Amino acid sequence: MKFKLSVLAAATAMAISPVSQASEVEVLHWWTSGGEAASVQFLKEKLNNEGVGWSDFAVAGGGGESAMTVLKSRAISGNPPTAAQIKGPSIQEWGDLGFLADINDVATDAGWDDLLPGVVSDVMKFEGKYVAAPVNVHRVNWLWANPEVFTKAGATIPTTWDDFMVQAQKLKDAGFVALAHGGQAWQDATVFEAVVLGVGGADYYQKAFVEGDMDALNSATTVEVFETFGQLRQFIDANSPGRDWNVATSMVINGEAGMQIMGDWAKGEFKVAGKNSGTDYVCVAAPGTSGSFTFNVDSFAFFNQSDAGKADAQKAMADAILSVEFQEVFNLNKGSIPARLGMDRAAFDSCAHDSMDAFVASSQTGGLVPSFAHGMAVSEAVSGAIYDTATNYFNSSDSAEEGAKQLVAAIAAAQ
Ligand code: BGC
Repeated sequence: MKFKLSVLAAATAMAISPVSQASEVEVLHWWTSGGEAASVQFLKEKLNNEGVGWSDFAVAGGGGESAMTVLKSRAISGNPPTAAQIKGPSIQEWGDLGFLADINDVATDAGWDDLLPGVVSDVMKFEGKYVAAPVNVHRVNWLWANPEVFTKAGATIPTTWDDFMVQAQKLKDAGFVALAHGGQAWQDATVFEAVVLGVGGADYYQKAFVEGDMDALNSATTVEVFETFGQLRQFIDANSPGRDWNVATSMVINGEAGMQIMGDWAKGEFKVAGKNSGTDYVCVAAPGTSGSFTFNVDSFAFFNQSDAGKADAQKAMADAILSVEFQEVFNLNKGSIPARLGMDRAAFDSCAHDSMDAFVASSQTGGLVPSFAHGMAVSEAVSGAIYDTATNYFNSSDSAEEGAKQLVAAIAAAQ
């Protein structure tokens, strides 16, 4: 009831807001690193060229937790932005609360059902109508490596977790930080997710971390996952607590560290630094995950507008997002691949080609799974439980058995 009343209050406030703001979009996002900012800048410019103004509502913080907190407080006080970067099952949660605008006419005119893979379009709809527009598909299970550091240390880039420990030790012995990492809950969860997929495989991942199947969670595999995850602590430097993800990427770029496990938004940082894939840096699937793909689709969800001008601006934004030009330029900067099907691959690098191939191949083998660390798989309550247990364990000296036990209990309580 409280929500309904505030929506009503917001609608009244919007009805009397000045017409001068009619064709402007206020857009909430958390893209503040170098690569992210370059990506969002292109959307802003594209809309400006179409006569739609841009009011930037950036809330810093990788993974978007802070942005979502700010969004909730703005929405509850009856003043949501025109559009916000909202992903996965959260789109349904906002739809259930009655906040989201139907942009189905734009989607129908442009044929989005045919332009998007089903795994993407399903998430963009609430009660069968489009309420959000996808900008990309990120692959989360990547390992980024500096080949020069590996050569200096006499190490080779690992493709299994067992080998990872061997090679990381060589990097460490040669005086490098083996694994560049930022000690923030979402980054811990991102690495944990890669370990879950690499150690347990896609079936286990799907059952335990998407479906919340208690038999899968209560298995020896979960203990093994925690063992491997715990072993990574020794390869991270003492200054990692609180470090932002892009600062960790810069350690790989400047040769201070050998590797980072991070989604392909990291590639945006390499690009801004003028580095080329294959020579200056190498991208490989995170250990043990080459046939799988943890997907993370960024999208903008649109909030109800009572002002017709603002609703039009919103539709112009939705339309621009699915255009061929936007999907290409944005994703070249962001490190992701286009959400739109049938795009020309020529402008993209080898990491993007690998990602495109893995997306298609994994969708045929069951290896395509939603990222739980990036809000694609489970409710906020369950992902919060996973974040908390993964990060608590990583920052403790608990045994793998204890970590697994705490995870199972936290997920059971949250779902
Ligand atoms: C988002 C990416 C973003 C990353 C780091 C992820 O959850 O999907 O777009 O670059 O967080 O901020």
